[in-house]
Amino acid sequence: MRRVSTELRPSILDDLGILPTLSWFFREFEAACGGIVVEKAFNVAEHEVPVPLKITLYRILQEATNNIVKHAGADRVRVRLERVDEVLHLLIEDNGCGFDPDSIEYVEGQGRGLGLLSMTERASFSGGTYHLASIPGQGTRIEVSWPCGQFSG
Ligand SMILES: Nc1ncnc2c1ncn2[C@@H]1O[C@H](COP(=O)(O)OP(=O)(O)O)[C@@H](O)[C@H]1O
Ligand SMILES: [Mg+2]
Repeated sequence: MRRVSTELRPSILDDLGILPTLSWFFREFEAACGGIVVEKAFNVAEHEVPVPLKITLYRILQEATNNIVKHAGADRVRVRLERVDEVLHLLIEDNGCGFDPDSIEYVEGQGRGLGLLSMTERASFSGGTYHLASIPGQGTRIEVSWPCGQFSG
């Protein structure tokens, strides 16, 4: 898992695109985390994903899957990427232990909370809207939406 998740920018992303990269990443993830089943639904064409968002998507998913391995104890993960009209939607959810998001506050100098903060910041810096929902005992869901009009022209 460390090998998969610390590779900062896989060359497959530049060479083949985000869809082959995500297929590869989640195949490796399932192989490395025996027992976690990943339901993948990528309902988007490669050219419908704005180029500047590709690495952002990848990094957000890296952090989310890191957290699932480290904290969730899940056996099922659902990841979905789709484009509806001009909006690109990303969803990643697990059926693990969940947590109370209000109890997590990033304090400088302490590691905890930095991963969640980095996902929020990557989403907002790239023009997206980030939403995390988690309930103890009921898993965790992260959704990010990007209006794609901002990337054209
Ligand atoms: N998918 C998840 N399932 C359960 N708990 C989670 C999940 N994601 C995050 N958490 C909780 O939120 C905390 C903060 O996550 P994060 O900011 O990534 O920091 P770190 O992973 O370094 O602890 C974690 O320590 C954990 O308690
Ligand atoms: Mg983390």
